[in-house]
Amino acid sequence: MSGHNVWTHKGTFLLAAVGSAVGLGNLWRFPYLTGENGGGAFILIYALTIFAVGIPILIAETMLGRTSRQSPIMGMRHLTKTHKTSRAWESIGWLGAASAFLILSFYSVIAGWALHYTWLMLTGSLVGADAATISAGFDALLASPGLMTLYHTLFIAFSALIVGMGIHKGIESGLRIMMPALFVILIVVLIYGVINGDVRAAASFLFTFNIADLSLEGWLQAMGQSFFTLSLGMGAIMAYGAYISSEASLTRTAIAVAFVDTAVAMVAGLAIFSLVFGAGLETGQGPGLMFVTLPLAFADMPFGALVGGVFFILVLGAAISSSISLIEPVAAFLVERFDMTRPQAVTIMVVAAWAMGLLTVVSFNIWAEGTLFHALFGRSAFEFIELLTNIFMPLGGLMIALFAGWALTQNEVMKELGTNITWFKTWRFLVRFVGPAAVSFVFLRTIPQVEGYVVPTLGALLIVGVFALSQRLRKSA
Ligand code: PFF
Repeated sequence: MSGHNVWTHKGTFLLAAVGSAVGLGNLWRFPYLTGENGGGAFILIYALTIFAVGIPILIAETMLGRTSRQSPIMGMRHLTKTHKTSRAWESIGWLGAASAFLILSFYSVIAGWALHYTWLMLTGSLVGADAATISAGFDALLASPGLMTLYHTLFIAFSALIVGMGIHKGIESGLRIMMPALFVILIVVLIYGVINGDVRAAASFLFTFNIADLSLEGWLQAMGQSFFTLSLGMGAIMAYGAYISSEASLTRTAIAVAFVDTAVAMVAGLAIFSLVFGAGLETGQGPGLMFVTLPLAFADMPFGALVGGVFFILVLGAAISSSISLIEPVAAFLVERFDMTRPQAVTIMVVAAWAMGLLTVVSFNIWAEGTLFHALFGRSAFEFIELLTNIFMPLGGLMIALFAGWALTQNEVMKELGTNITWFKTWRFLVRFVGPAAVSFVFLRTIPQVEGYVVPTLGALLIVGVFALSQRLRKSA
């Protein structure tokens, strides 16, 4: 599509993709999953999956964006025409949009907790507090729908503002300020952790590979996490890829994104576990690791309130740079398809995701049990939405791998990748066989969680529905 926007600099895609990849997944989810799954063995599987499955799919997804130069939904429609493949592949775009919308809805609520903790830390409210007080404080936050809604609203509105300002003035400028600041903060927190914590214990916990520590469930979680952390299968990378310059090397860029993302997760893990071990606390705290255990570690350390506050600012910044990449694919679609202005498109996406987020808010308090969701699916609305995204994400990745590896005209793909034949064949082998096999394995993780046939049936209906809708829109276009 001629006249489509391109990032101002050759390196901006890297910045944007790293911004998308580095987020709550690295700072909140990775450490607690590692903590729950025995450390090094979990990391080994995680890193292997990133390398053998994540990078090839990252390359494929960026390539789909760049060759189509449109938003994921319109871009997939375009590619099915130019490569004369089945229109069914268009569902990649729709699935991605649905996942981005669902993830944004709960991502913003959890990022809102970080806003609360930034405030508590910087005002010194937690200095010297004991474990009971801090954990009661977290429970009180979860029990308050009003407070959670307030933080959720502030967070999502700020993200919307950045995307609404456009890809150059909003996204590019925002990232150019935020990302370097985040790296500086991360290093400061690491140094603080090394001085005040127990970095030896942290390193031996993270880097001792004892495969016997890992359950099958942990193994599958490690693979699921490597998709989430690279923002794969959701159209975010495809949307950003639509703006990448034609000269940039897709392979080198993808490797750099994966490398930085993994490095951030490791450094964050090292810093967080240094503090946790230094304070003699437990590693297997689950989701509360960052919101209960870490504030407790900071409570008794020198300058803990200040450094803790700065740490939560890091969490917030990383979450914002990821949430803008969840808004962009859907907003760009609305602009392209319905000729909306960007602010209109962003408003529609964000207001809808905000409203959906209220379901996550109430899942921790007034609707914590006894709802229709519990009766039908045996879980809260939040857990159900998370489960859906856990299914959609690998499904999207699987379809991208199959589409790029099997459906596209391979001569065109080779031209677009611009690499030598050996690397092209290696990449193609990975997306044709290794990726799909690994992703099917990730699905195993979700199957035991699914009660009866309700969820699979609804999921299938949703996919068929989305596809039917896309066909109607296509006809009327
Ligand atoms: N990669 C982000 C993280 O690790 O926090 C989460 C995410 C962002 C997932 C954007 C998907 C996405 F499209």
